[in-house]
Formats: sequence, C-alpha cells, structure tokens
Amino acid sequence: MTEESAFVYRFELGNKAGATPLLLLHGTGGDENDLLQLGAMISPGSALLSPRGRVLEHGMPRFFHRLAEGVFDEEDVRKRALELGAFVESARQRHGIEAPVAVGFSNGANIAAALLLMKPEALAGAVLLRAMVPLSDPPRARLDGKPVLILSGQADPIVPAGNAARLSAMLADAGAKVVHKTLPAGHRLSQADVRLARDWIASVDAQVV
Ligand code: MLT
Repeated sequence: MTEESAFVYRFELGNKAGATPLLLLHGTGGDENDLLQLGAMISPGSALLSPRGRVLEHGMPRFFHRLAEGVFDEEDVRKRALELGAFVESARQRHGIEAPVAVGFSNGANIAAALLLMKPEALAGAVLLRAMVPLSDPPRARLDGKPVLILSGQADPIVPAGNAARLSAMLADAGAKVVHKTLPAGHRLSQADVRLARDWIASVDAQVV
C-alpha cells in the first residue's frame, strides 16, 4: 500500500453531468463522514471524495500536526499537503473524476489552502471555511485564476481577522480569483455559509460549462 492510498475515505458517485466533484476536508476531531451532508447541500449531484485526516491529536483526526492552537508544524503541513495531493491524484484515476474543488472546514480548510500553494494542479478551486495562513513562507504558486471562496467568522476566537485577510492576499497574489467574505458568525458554520458556498459553486460550474 502506498502512503497516499492509506487514507481512509468515502466516495459518493455524482449523478449530475457538469457538477464539479468536491474534496471534503473535515475539521479537527471530524472524520470522512462529517461533511458529506454539507457537500450534498452545497453542490447537489456532485461526486464527493472525503478522506479522514491521518494525524491524531489526543485521538482526534487532523490533516497535519500543530505545536499549539494556531501554531503549525510547517514541515509537517508541507509533507501532508503533498500526501493529500497524491491521494487526490490516485483517487481521481480510481474513480474517474475531474480535479475537485476542495471544501474544507477549519483544519480541513488550512490543509486545502496548503495544497493550493504546494500543488495547485490537484484542485480546480476551493471553498475555505474558517481558514488561516497555513505556511508562513509558501512556495511561489501559480494559481492562474483558480476560483477560491474564503468565508470567515467575524467573532471567530481561533482565526484572527488579520490572518484570514493575509491568506486572502496570499492566494490572490499567487493568481487565484478570490472572493473573501466575513460573516456575523464564530468558528462554527452558519446557514449563511451553506447558502454562500452553494451560490458560489453554482457560479463556478456555470463558468466551466
Ligand atoms: C488548525 O489547527 O488547523 C486550526 O487551529 C483550526 C483547528 O483545527 O482548530
């Protein structure tokens, strides 16, 4: 078994032609089942690829190690982002799907941002829910107009507003087409997140068709 194929994951077949597949990336303590319902709500009919993070923090799955809350082990972030990229590539071949749009929440959003910066070709775009800057000195990525939606919470105790703004600028500087909105919410998701993500994905799908 190769490193990347060692991810535990769920895959749900899509049933709508032209609907972008989604790569669902859960938050700390979640698993491969967590975001399936969210994925189906924001992009009905899309194929859903949902891996479980392979790092355990006190028994809670995550996508990379951290030294403290909001302080990341960046060497591990880089390594795990590439591992996730390799997983996406092999899962695409196995299931015959196009490059997915990542939908990540919290720790899942942070690894999605790292994947965009480390291996942009792995993703068609990303919805980053409560994301932070994953790498202080990322490689020079060329995101060539890749669509990215960042939804931050105004009262998020984990993600300072300035940090989310830096992530938005970092991805835009690398060439991504970033939409960044800050909602009257905390770290948890709200109905507004679901609505905005759904409308944004529909507009991305409409541009591809
Ligand atoms: C992280 O570790 O990725 C962030 O602090 C978000 C979290 O998982 O709490």
